[in-house]
This record gives sequence, C-alpha cells and structure tokens, in this order.
Amino acid sequence: MANTNCAILSTGSSYPEGVLTNADLERMVETSDDWITSRTGIKQRHKAADGEYTSMFAVRAARQCIERARIDPIDIDLVICATVTPDQILPSTGCIIQTELGCHRAAAFDLAAACSGFLYGLTLANQMVRTGQSRYALVIGAEILTRYVDYTDRQTCVIFGDGAGAALLGPAEGERGILATRIRSDGRYTEQLFSPGGGTRIPPTAETLAEGLHFYKMRGNELFKVAVRSMADVSREVLEEAGYTASDVKLFIPHQANQRITEAVASKLKVDESIVYSNIAMHGNTSSASIPIALDECIEMGRVREGDLVLMASFGGGVTWGAVLMRW
Ligand code: ACO
Repeated sequence: MANTNCAILSTGSSYPEGVLTNADLERMVETSDDWITSRTGIKQRHKAADGEYTSMFAVRAARQCIERARIDPIDIDLVICATVTPDQILPSTGCIIQTELGCHRAAAFDLAAACSGFLYGLTLANQMVRTGQSRYALVIGAEILTRYVDYTDRQTCVIFGDGAGAALLGPAEGERGILATRIRSDGRYTEQLFSPGGGTRIPPTAETLAEGLHFYKMRGNELFKVAVRSMADVSREVLEEAGYTASDVKLFIPHQANQRITEAVASKLKVDESIVYSNIAMHGNTSSASIPIALDECIEMGRVREGDLVLMASFGGGVTWGAVLMRW
C-alpha cells in the first residue's frame, strides 16, 4: 500500500481541578515563590485529589479529541498511552482507556519514555497511519506525577504536576501532516532521574516505602545541560531532514520542564521568543502530558494556523529525547 500523509486531526486536554501554588509549597518545604519563579518559571501546578487517577484524565482528554474530530470510537484502531505513572502495573492504562472510550477494535498499550513519551507515541502512530496499518490512532500523554513526588525534597516537589493531553492522528491530504520525526535515548544517564524502588529490582515493601524509594530522585543540574543540548540537536535534525531551518518555524512547543531550559533551547536554535509557547507557570512539568496539553492550548487560543510549520521537542528521564515537525 502506498504511504499516505498522517496528520493530527484533533486534540484534547484535561487536568485535576486541585492546584498547588508556590505559596502552598512555601508552607511545606524550605523554598520561596521567588526561588521557584526565577529558577523554573513555575507559579502553580495541578495536583490530583485522593481517588483521582491517571486514566480519568486521559479518558477526558481523549473524549474531547474524538468529539472534535466527529469520528466513531470504534474506528480508532490504535491507542497509545504514554505514561510513567500508570493506573496500575497490570493491565496497561492503554487498555483501561480503550475500554472506557469504546475503541474495542484497537490495539492498546502503554509507552514509558518519561517526558518524551508523547513524541515517541506520535512517531510510532505516524508510521502506522502512513503505512495503512492504522486508520485512526489516539496518542495520549497522561501523568499523575504528584503520587511519586517526595514533598520533603524541595528540588523535585516544586517542579512536577498532573494532567493529560491527547491527539487523534489519521490520514491527511496535501501538504498537511507530520513531516519528520526523530526519537533517541541514552540509558547511561538513567540515574539523573529515576525512582529506584517499587519494581522487580526493589519490590515494594513496608521498608522501601518508609525509605521513600518509590519517589523520584533527580540530579536537576546535570539533567539541565543534557536537556538543552539534546532538544536543540534533535530539533535541528528534523528541520534539516524536512528541508527547513528554524526561521521557517511558526510555533515551537518544547517540553515544559523549566522556563530556563525553554529559553536556552530557543536561543541555541535562534528562534524568536514570540513563537515559543510556554505554559509552565500554570502547569509545572507534567512529563508526557506537557506537549499535548500545550498543543491543545495553542489550538484553542488560535496560536496555530493552517499551513504553519510547528516544531515540538522533548527531553525526559531515561534519558530520552525527540522532536516532531509538522505542517498544520
Ligand atoms: N527552593 C529553594 N532552594 C532550592 C530549591 C527550592 N525548591 N531547590 C534547590 N535549591 C537550592 C539548592 O539546594 C542549591 O543550594 P546550595 O547552592 O546552597 O547548594 C541551590 O538552590 C541551587 O541548586 P541547583 O540545583 O544548582 O539549582 P538549579 O538552578 O539547577 O535549579 C532545578 C534546580 C530547577 C531542578 C533545575 O536544575 C532543573 O530544572 N533541572 C532540570 C530538571 C528537569 O527538567 N527534570 C525533568 C526532566 S523531565 C522528566 O523526565 C520527568
């Protein structure tokens, strides 16, 4: 079968109503609004309440997508849930979402690539649609990171938030669609961001929980440098592959990790700050949900117009990184 173009047909997003502000954090750990704002750009992050879990927000984001695209859920034949905070170990959150949405003919699975999960998912789904293996594919990034945050560790607890974003992919005509994708990883940097306990290597016990081994541990400073370098490099790669330069880009959506990382990447790429989207002040770092939430907001706000070249780049634990270039 001849390859067809694949495009994002619709998006959706959802996040908990609960909000944790910098003022709230000032009362929990030794930090200040000033420090958090100047070092990260974050003012608040959404936090799931007890009883709320990852698939709840994933399903809401995906439903919005399906309604906006006006398609029947049964026609979706692929559901990828990018997450490192699944509802449970077994079954996959993808299968839980599939059932809730009524996509009963879809293959469904989880994809663990931390903050790069959504772009990893777009890359795979793009191939499936282009080759005719799938007609409609849902790619969702969904996280409840606050469940794995140690609220005595001021380095991590100020950064992470919860939410979900979704994109529906399908065949497209003409110029529209995904032009180039690139995903990469380097496991040598694993311990820059990881949760040591809770899996098969250190199974959860009362002792590992008491020691907090299930919480995220991060070497923020080291990650910062790798993040800037790798996001800039991979962005250049997709631009070059598609025959464009950074000056052709109309909207740049980087993973919302830290405002200073965003600014450093934009400066390395020499893109004007007016085309760089940032919502980190309101959401913090929502890992795999960060880019699809941002993309959904850009579409809702009219920041992306037909024909625009849109660049997305991400970086996350693993470490993993990637970029996707598309014509809207
Ligand atoms: N409030 C006040 N002071 C703090 C806080 C805080 N919340 N956190 C750290 N500090 C202190 C440190 O203890 C240190 O004090 P010292 O100089 O007395 O030792 C000082 O601030 C500077 O610490 P740094 O770690 O050098 O601060 P930095 O400017 O690097 O900012 C941060 C830290 C925000 C974590 C930054 O390194 C960062 O954002 N890194 C990238 C993290 C990231 O992107 N992680 C996610 C990857 S994505 C994924 O996969 C989920």
